[in-house]
Amino acid sequence: MLNSVPGPRAGHVHFGSHTAGDMALTLETRDLTIRFGGHVAVNCVSCSFRPGELTAIVGPNGAGKTTYFNLISGQLRASSGSILFDGRDITSLSAPLRTRAGLGRAFQLTNLFPNLSVEENVRLAVQAQSGVHYDLLRPWMARRDLIARADAILDQVALGSRRNITATTLSHGDQRKLEVALMMALEPKVFMFDEPTAGMSIDEVPVVLDLIGKLKQDKSRIILLVEHKMDVVRSLADRIIVLHNGQLVADGKPAEVIASPIVQEAYLGVSTRSAA
Ligand SMILES: Nc1ncnc2c1ncn2[C@@H]1O[C@H](COP(=O)(O)OP(=O)(O)O)[C@@H](O)[C@H]1O
Ligand SMILES: [Mg+2]
Repeated sequence: MLNSVPGPRAGHVHFGSHTAGDMALTLETRDLTIRFGGHVAVNCVSCSFRPGELTAIVGPNGAGKTTYFNLISGQLRASSGSILFDGRDITSLSAPLRTRAGLGRAFQLTNLFPNLSVEENVRLAVQAQSGVHYDLLRPWMARRDLIARADAILDQVALGSRRNITATTLSHGDQRKLEVALMMALEPKVFMFDEPTAGMSIDEVPVVLDLIGKLKQDKSRIILLVEHKMDVVRSLADRIIVLHNGQLVADGKPAEVIASPIVQEAYLGVSTRSAA
């Protein structure tokens, strides 16, 4: 139990001032591996994540970042290795049970009710999380607390003015915000964002970044962010890990990792190895 799991990598940032009273939450992958045929997409990745820390996961296209997320959230099963969350081994747990346990991931809007409004979709998600079931004697629409919670989430993701729009008619950027809203409604302990600003227009990007910045303020949360825009990473991350060909090749404070040869090569095309 607790956070006494062995830290597989040295040199990571340690936050000593967790919220008093809460047992520290932990998420850890140990030698996590998945093979697709002969291709090892995630290769022996051992890493632990702590509350109060936003970890950016970077690496070139095809490095295995999304696959790593799929393994953690349960969309894919590991070929070998394990995942520990909140004191238990969740390696063989289904994706829905992992969601229940508190692993939150923003998904392309697949579980959306397409003909319902933005607000109705968020309310249904809030209702699902609250465990309140439909009750003929007390229709959920009357439950002011659920409505207030849904409205607060809509405001947080800046979709308040879109609340009555049919979900499927949202612009691309607004759909991404709705994905985040649906994740927030589940009140997860771990927030996973996979390129949350991809395809967004310039003016929409700050809304999502501000939102992630605000989520960080609650130090009981673990936040994982896959992002290739280094300015975004620089402004939000407390820690950066680098995946390359499925392997974890760097892990540390943003300034150190950004300055490292592997990142300089992968992102800036600077050859630091063959300088002789
Ligand atoms: N379901 C799958 N079947 C076969 N190969 C896959 C599958 N998912 C991902 N891959 C491969 O695994 C590698 C890592 O992909 P991905 O995790 O999407 O990379 P990233 O998100 O870092 O760009 C790629 O070579 C990709 O083609
Ligand atoms: Mg990806």
